[in-house]
Amino acid sequence: MTAQRVLVVDDEPDMVENCARILKRSGYQCLTATDPHRALALVEAEHPDLLLTDLKMPGMDGMELLRRARESDPALPVILITAFATIESAVAAIKDGAFDYLPKNFSVDQLRVAVERGLRQRALQLENRNLRDQLQGALGFENLIGRSPAMTKIFELVRKAARSDANILVLGESGTGKELIARAIHANSPRATQAFVPVDCASLPEPLLESELFGHEKGAFTGAVKAKRGLMEVADRGTLFLDEIGELPLALQAKLLRVLQERQLRHVGGTAQIDVDVRVVSATNRDLREAVTKGQFREELYYRVNVIAIPLPPLRDRAGDLKLLAHAFLKRYGGERVTGFDDAALKALDAYAWPGNVRELQNVVERACALADGDRITRSDLPDYLLQADPARPAVPAGASGSGFPTVGDLPLKDAKEKWMQVLEVSYLRDLLERHGGNVSAAAKAAGIDRKTFHRLINKYQIRG
Ligand SMILES: Nc1ncnc2c1ncn2[C@@H]1O[C@H](COP(=O)(O)OP(=O)(O)OP(=O)(O)O)[C@@H](O)[C@H]1O
Ligand SMILES: [Mg+2]
Repeated sequence: MTAQRVLVVDDEPDMVENCARILKRSGYQCLTATDPHRALALVEAEHPDLLLTDLKMPGMDGMELLRRARESDPALPVILITAFATIESAVAAIKDGAFDYLPKNFSVDQLRVAVERGLRQRALQLENRNLRDQLQGALGFENLIGRSPAMTKIFELVRKAARSDANILVLGESGTGKELIARAIHANSPRATQAFVPVDCASLPEPLLESELFGHEKGAFTGAVKAKRGLMEVADRGTLFLDEIGELPLALQAKLLRVLQERQLRHVGGTAQIDVDVRVVSATNRDLREAVTKGQFREELYYRVNVIAIPLPPLRDRAGDLKLLAHAFLKRYGGERVTGFDDAALKALDAYAWPGNVRELQNVVERACALADGDRITRSDLPDYLLQADPARPAVPAGASGSGFPTVGDLPLKDAKEKWMQVLEVSYLRDLLERHGGNVSAAAKAAGIDRKTFHRLINKYQIRG
């Protein structure tokens, strides 16, 4: 475990140095400031585990520093040092949230004992909070909706994985909730009080991404007018979320691997080695193993980020969750005005395959809430492409049941393609079923899709084996 960090603040530099020396000898890391404003910035940027501050300082006194520091970290223990060691000011300080109180002429042992107690109290408080969060709601993932067996299993896995320090790879189609899961992992982990830092590996060109991740020195490249910390440093002692990790360029994969192995990084254009302690949660909708075999993803990095894999099922494989989610989104977007779905609308939602998963459902419900005239969402509030897959209206174009292609007349290419694809799909499925003697499991296996999806398709086209 990394050393715990104490922030020492006093307007007298000698005093600061003195305290820092004692604490360092006791194995703590020290941050120091002689200016309370700078101290506040350090609380926000560095998340110290304890604040030791003088009470009387010009600019901002210790009590105010205490109040403002605890606004950004409510669990931060604060020890005040003062020359005016009267009982009254001690009581007042403790009422205001100070953890402890030291006279200015404290002894080395007094200081050590107070700091140790403060840190122990913080650890206890964090542990309590974690326990409380776990008990709250379904695993404390209040914003994660799902009761299907598939998702219940995922939540169980997330809870176990979160409490370890292992790197986690979240897999799943677009819109399945990968980022939400990554945040839940962080929030339920022992690193929860530190930063969660998302990085979208697909959004920036390589050189920019490199300096974003690892930081740079002033003048490292044209435009680097100031030195900048990298996001990996910002995530120190917290969680780094590498979204779309499959898109990380090979050169950066190598560099990332080195940082994870050595737990140290170097700024672009710099020489100093900087310690970093990050837990990496990554997400991808690509098949990374295949990318490894194709030489597009480094095998060693794959194993390092994929200590625990969390494969999110697509929405269509989460029996029952569709309704639950649809109603949750209805509540969010419909408010008091739109409060339900009519039967036909629900049927249409149910019949659709949701290739865009939860995000697509969310968008569809938001749009429907905006369009709905009355207090219920009806079929006509749903987008056309969704209704075309609805068996309530024959989706299979005329001719699809025969062997010929449907006429497409003046249809735009996109729509014509869709019509033809449906015909191909129907004839493929029918043929497959026939060859497997109507055995859905065998046919699905041959098609490389799961049985439920296969069922949904043959229901959609009303194919009988
Ligand atoms: N189980 C869930 N409960 C409630 N909301 C969810 C759930 N899963 C996803 N969402 C919502 O759906 C949207 C998409 O989720 P998220 O961004 O986490 O998906 P993603 O897998 O990262 O998607 P992409 O691959 O497109 O980046 C978000 O608005 C999220 O809040
Ligand atoms: Mg995402």
